[in-house]
Amino acid sequence: MTEIRNIVILTGAGISAESGIDTFRSAGGLWEQHRVEDVATPEAFARDPDLVHRFYDMRRASIREKLPNPAHFALAELDAAWRGNLLIVTQNVDDLHTRAGARRVLHMHGEHLKAWCTSCDVRSHWRGPLIDRPPCPICQSRSLRPDVVWFGEMPYRMGEIYGALREADLFVSIGTSGAVYPAAGFVQNARELGIRTLELNLEESQGSRWFHESRLGPASEVVPAWVAEVLRGG
Ligand code: OAD
Repeated sequence: MTEIRNIVILTGAGISAESGIDTFRSAGGLWEQHRVEDVATPEAFARDPDLVHRFYDMRRASIREKLPNPAHFALAELDAAWRGNLLIVTQNVDDLHTRAGARRVLHMHGEHLKAWCTSCDVRSHWRGPLIDRPPCPICQSRSLRPDVVWFGEMPYRMGEIYGALREADLFVSIGTSGAVYPAAGFVQNARELGIRTLELNLEESQGSRWFHESRLGPASEVVPAWVAEVLRGG
């Protein structure tokens, strides 16, 4: 196998499932409980901002009770030990990678614990509810929205992600169904660039066929096992 120096890791809801955070597309998942068009589009927010704020306020409050699991800790250990480039691109809006100690984390779909002021365009750390329209800490305007990327909006920092992929020798996808682009297309970008690709997921995903290798099992088991292997130089 060619020596691995630079790694890009994509994570999705599956890595936080064992921390008790619902995934989106499993039976009983978030998109069965709520319609995307009601809570996760700019149109929904314009139509019924209270409903959207209530949905995100609830989720923001609930992640504070959740804890990182062994998969998050294993990636944090890899991040601390890895001397080459490493980027953990997460589609998750929870803060469990950071709370586990990972530093090289990019939130492409935004973060629950930030609010975005659509008046002054500043993103501020935010822990409380937004439904009562609190003022922006910077400009005092009451125009805060959740700093999460909704359907129909452009994910964050795509240039950085593609730049990291171009430098990478290994692309690893963890706990994501491969249903939502552009993240679902990273494996195809990696293949075009000639990069080795590995999937770690509970079950076969929509994207499995694109990967050189898929290892199936719960993230809390397969991720620490893979990290141990990489750190041994395997
Ligand atoms: P999904 O709910 O679509 O997929 C979660 C994946 O994790 C599935 O393939 C599951 O099989 C797998 N999984 C579940 N439990 C697992 C476990 N314990 N260990 C490992 N894998 C497990 O979630 P995402 O792929 O993250 O976007 O969804 C992508 C995007 O769609 C989200 O970021 C969100 C959503 O709509 C926006 O809101 C913009």
